Parts: sequence; C-alpha cells; structure tokens
Amino acid sequence: MKNYKIAVLKGDGIGPEIVGEAIKVLNVTAEKCGFTVAYEEALLGGCAIDATGVPLPDETVAKCKAADSTLLGAVGGPKWDTLPGHLRPEKGLLGIRSALGLFANLRPARIFEPLREASPLRADIIDGSLDIMVVRELTGGIYFGERGRLEENGVQAAYDTEKYSVPEIERIARIGFDLAMKRGRKLCSVDKANVLESSRLWRETVTRIAKDYPEVELSYMYVDNCAMQLVRNPSQFDVLLTSNIFGDILSDEASMISGSIGMLASASLGATGSGLYEPIHGSAPDIAGQNIANPLATILSVAMMLKYSLGQPEASDMIEKAVADVLGEVRTPDIYVEGFQKVSCTEMGDAVCQKIKAM
Ligand code: IPM
Ligand code: MG
Repeated sequence: MKNYKIAVLKGDGIGPEIVGEAIKVLNVTAEKCGFTVAYEEALLGGCAIDATGVPLPDETVAKCKAADSTLLGAVGGPKWDTLPGHLRPEKGLLGIRSALGLFANLRPARIFEPLREASPLRADIIDGSLDIMVVRELTGGIYFGERGRLEENGVQAAYDTEKYSVPEIERIARIGFDLAMKRGRKLCSVDKANVLESSRLWRETVTRIAKDYPEVELSYMYVDNCAMQLVRNPSQFDVLLTSNIFGDILSDEASMISGSIGMLASASLGATGSGLYEPIHGSAPDIAGQNIANPLATILSVAMMLKYSLGQPEASDMIEKAVADVLGEVRTPDIYVEGFQKVSCTEMGDAVCQKIKAM
C-alpha cells in the first residue's frame, strides 16, 4: 500500500484547528482510496518564534524537504506584530516558500453552487460559471528584492525593489500556460507595463513563451484594469498569470467573489513537485480557539495536494465533491445563512468525513 509522508505546519491562531480537520478528512479519504499517510509536525511562524526565537527553524526546512508534501495552516498574530521585520511570522512564511523553491502559487477562485448567494457581487454579474485560476509568482519580485532605509538630505527614506529575471518569468509563464491547456485555454498576463520596466520584460517574455502554446488565447491587462474587471465581469477570466505582489492583491480580491475567503485553497509548487498547501486566509487571531473557524479552505488545500503532488486525482475529486455536498446542508458562521444548520469547525470536518465515508 502506498504510504505518504506529510510535513504539517499548524502555525498560529486558527491554524491548529483547521489543520486538525483537514487531517481528519485526509485520513478518511486515504482509507477509502487505499493509501496511508504519516504526519511529521514542525514549527513555523509565531509558535516557532516562541519556541526557538526564529520564525523558520532549520529543522522545519529539513522536515519539509524530507516529506512528500507539506500542509500549512496559517501564521501570525498581534503578539508578534511589533517584532522587527526579519523576525516576524510572515518572514517565516516567505522563508519556507523560498527555501523549498516554491516559485508558483496556484490560487483557484470559483463559486460553489450552494454559496452563490454569499457572493457580494450582484447575481447578474456572476451569473454563469466563475472559475479563475490565479497563478502568482511566489519567490521573486518586490517581496524578495533589495530593500532598505537611507537618509537623503537629512530626510528619512525607505525603498523596496521589484526585479525579475527572464528565467524567473519563463518558468512561471510555463506553469500558467500548462494549466490553461488543462482548463479553458485562456491566459491573461497581468502587469503594469505602461510604467514598470520589470513589467515590460515580463510581457516580452510571456509573449515569447506563448509561441509554444498556440492553442492558448493570450491577452494582457494592466493590474489596475484587472482589479476593476474582476468585479465588473469576472467570468471573462480563466488563468490570470502575474507577479508576486500583484498576485497577492488580486487573489484576495478574486477570493471574495466566491463569498468567503474561508473557502479558498492554494498550492505552492516548485521544481520538485512536492509542494506546500495552505488556505489563502490568515490566522484569524480574533476567533482562534473558539472552534468556529471554517476549515474548508484547508480541506480543499488537501484536495489540491492529492491532485498536484501525490498523484491521487480520484481522492482529490472525492474531497471536492464532499465539500460541495456539505455546503447544501451545514454552514460555519462565516458562510451561514438562514435555512442551514450552523456548525462548528470540528462539526464541519465531521460532516465532510461522513460524506466521503458514504461515497
Ligand atoms: C499570502 C499572504 C502572505 C503573502 C503574507 C502573510 C506574507 O498575504 O499568502 O497571500 O503576502 O504572500
Ligand atoms: Mg495575501
């Protein structure tokens, strides 16, 4: 029987609660599909700072590298907000992405049919299908560029640098085009090429790579226009390919179209395929420990792991189907509306497990 080794980084805030439910679901799915999973926990973020003094201990990187894949909850919280930049929990998150070479971040935004009324967009705007894949470059650009403080003519200043090399753009573009081929065969590359030189190189490079994908319809959009189009007519998009900072911002926007940021999963992939999977939402310290968080984004992240890293597409489909099914019956508070049963985080996990067992 196939046995997978998964590194588990529960993180801070609601992280441990939502990861606990995702593991429950993965175990039930494994039993159903005839494989086993062994878990190795490691520290990342605030909990790592408390235990070791740094947000990303070397041991954590080693455990993730040794695993078939990594599951992450969320990091951060007010307790660590006043620490200097290099010691913040977020630095641990950027650090693990970089240490594992995870340059491609896939963030699907789609509407689950039973949640259609939860979208803040008018029904006529999201009528029809909505299924966008944001492909965000994850280990380059301004989040990793040179930064610093200086004094100019007695005035304090600070700077951050956006820089992309051709190979960095090429590899993320190929991920985008490969995905587009498996989906709607449309790719929109998002940049700010009317102002930024790095965006002009991005556009040139994407145009060149596109020649290898003649079946994909390529378009370009400036990021400001894209932000507007996402709420004006989101169904026009299939794959959105963009840089680290633009992808960070646009994926939050795209996620909200689906009703709750508590629903959206993500995959971070590199050259090795092992990948790191996490919900796109944060650690929600305000509701931590109350058993009311929505675990579905983390559960759906496990579904992505099964598909993209573990080669278990049927198990992945089972989880996605189970999630779609439970949404017709039970709701955590963030997506609750009258007529449904309001459930806790653990009850939501149980409900998904029940659906899978019954399949
Ligand atoms: C995300 C988050 C992180 C990012 C932060 C917490 C560093 O916003 O995963 O989108 O900017 O990548
Ligand atoms: Mg973000």
